[in-house]
Amino acid sequence: MKLIMLGAPGAGKGTQAKMIAEKYDIPHISTGDLFRYNMSSGTELGKQVKAYIDKGQLVPDDVTVAMLMDRIGQEDCRKGYVLDGFPRTIQQAEALDDALQKEGTAVDMVIDIEVDDQSIVERMSGRRTCPGCGATYHIVHNAPREEGVCDKCGEKLVSRADDAPETVQNRLNVYHEQTQPLISYYNEQGILKEIDGTMKMDAVFGQITAFIDAM
Ligand code: AP5
Ligand code: MG
Ligand code: ZN
Repeated sequence: MKLIMLGAPGAGKGTQAKMIAEKYDIPHISTGDLFRYNMSSGTELGKQVKAYIDKGQLVPDDVTVAMLMDRIGQEDCRKGYVLDGFPRTIQQAEALDDALQKEGTAVDMVIDIEVDDQSIVERMSGRRTCPGCGATYHIVHNAPREEGVCDKCGEKLVSRADDAPETVQNRLNVYHEQTQPLISYYNEQGILKEIDGTMKMDAVFGQITAFIDAM
């Protein structure tokens, strides 16, 4: 089962992808998380991508595609995966399609989570993440039991550097220009499912699982 989560920054791709990965026992692959992991551990790749991410711009396709191909080539991806934040350009989508075609497979479903720009800005300002285990919270919509502390591992929660309001606006512009065209790209392939992402998290997940189970 090969799934793609599509949607604006803050639409809930990561939140839903984590739940999908757990329920269907497939790896959750977030290119954003991979980049952040490389930045925090100070790798060459991390140094190379930091300036783009801090400004809310996309990392160049060649760098992103190489990292993603390496990841999906690993053993645990044989049973499938859920991609979160990749592809983000037509070029990335074509690179993925080409690679899968060579091994005689294809993407099974693309889940597009639709959320209006105004709700996005509110979501990002309230997002908190755990540097320890990667869990994501929202101060209003998904608050941890104890303010500022991760329920799962007890680490202190932080705000993402690129969630500053100016950067969020830039990320939204980049999304509309470069990523939104993927909606028609996958619609033409007949594998696109659209979901109203302004519903509560559990309701969004219910729709996603209904689509997957009907596949
Ligand atoms: P990435 O990490 O992918 O960021 P993003 O796409 O901007 O998306 P987010 O992670 O911000 O949001 P999300 O949709 O996962 O929402 P979440 O579940 O957290 O990418 C970061 C950067 O890396 C990019 O800007 C780019 O520079 C680079 N990059 C990454 N991939 C790349 C690629 N392929 N090519 C080039 N560059 C790339 O939810 C958000 C908040 O809302 C949370 O607080 C959550 O609790 C809350 N929430 C979730 N669902 C709901 C709900 N239903 N109701 C209310 N609140 C909700
Ligand atoms: Mg995310
Ligand atoms: Zn944690």
